[in-house]
Amino acid sequence: MYQTRITKLLNIKYPIVQGGLAYLAYADLAAAVSNAGGLGQITAMSLPDPESLQKEIHKVKQLTGKPFGINFAIGQHGRLFEHMVQVAIDEQVPVVSITGGNPAGVLDMLKDFPIKTLVLVASSRQAQKAQELGADAVMVVGQEGGGHLGRSDTGTIVLTPHVVDALEIPVIASGGIVDGRGLMAALALGAEGIEMGTRFIATKEIQSHINYKQAILSADEGDTVVIKRSLGTPARALRSPFTENILSLEEKYGNNYEQLKDYISGEVNQKYIHSGNESSGFGWAGQGASRIHQILSVKDLISSIIDEADQIRGKWSKEV
Ligand SMILES: Cc1cc2nc3c(=O)[nH]c(=O)nc-3n(C[C@H](O)[C@H](O)[C@H](O)COP(=O)(O)O)c2cc1C
Repeated sequence: MYQTRITKLLNIKYPIVQGGLAYLAYADLAAAVSNAGGLGQITAMSLPDPESLQKEIHKVKQLTGKPFGINFAIGQHGRLFEHMVQVAIDEQVPVVSITGGNPAGVLDMLKDFPIKTLVLVASSRQAQKAQELGADAVMVVGQEGGGHLGRSDTGTIVLTPHVVDALEIPVIASGGIVDGRGLMAALALGAEGIEMGTRFIATKEIQSHINYKQAILSADEGDTVVIKRSLGTPARALRSPFTENILSLEEKYGNNYEQLKDYISGEVNQKYIHSGNESSGFGWAGQGASRIHQILSVKDLISSIIDEADQIRGKWSKEV
């Protein structure tokens, strides 16, 4: 049942992928997810240079013998970007995921190597492009998701089957999924796996301030906001006085990046997620935060997702 083209492609037990998580997804988290049967990932943009990425890859290889991925955000690292990708090639990493721009260059660099490629998309058009360029699978993120989103405001339940119907390569659903119900819903929509970001923030292994984890647990419906819409790069974060202020600045200054840059940078993001001081920055989170009630170890989280999915399957086989 949980064997899909995604589990086969990525050589994993369960069709569960940990999304790239800027400044949070390092070797410890990636190894915990991979050891629990999913696909863990290291986020390259959290690391300053190719040498640091190489060290992190060596560390994850020591912590797990299972497949793992490296997440690359196009446009980050400036001139160092290609060197960062080259490290992934030299280290023969099993999987690379690509986000944040045209994946053509990275896919071209990887095409002669046995590295599986996942491209994060937010529309059928982007998904078809990724398929044409030779991606092995796409991860499609709906409007509920945490972090950067598509511009069409389309939710996961509509976007996923749309993309599934448009493609031949397998699709991983993402955005708002936090549990076994979400996994079963994604499979019912035709996806062959799920990617989760926000759910992994409330885990024991992730290196973030406890206040960020607690804020995820306390979030209710409506406690996330989409910032940076005025800049054409919408992204979902926890609602707080800090993010409310960003929304006011966007209303006042429109797409004037200069007026906004001190409030939306990676440094400001890191200030909150690592210091926990709500007045100094913001934390990305998706709408699924309102459905997260416990900080779990990654192993317990993955088991709970599979147990819940099994229960649903059992119930359906009796009742439907
Ligand atoms: C804290 C945080 C940081 C993120 N950073 C990245 C990133 O660096 N690269 C990336 O591809 N996606 C990033 N994302 C998006 C996630 O990988 C994933 O697609 C998204 O969280 C899925 O929606 P969910 O949060 O509802 O699970 C981030 C999401 C969050 C919540």
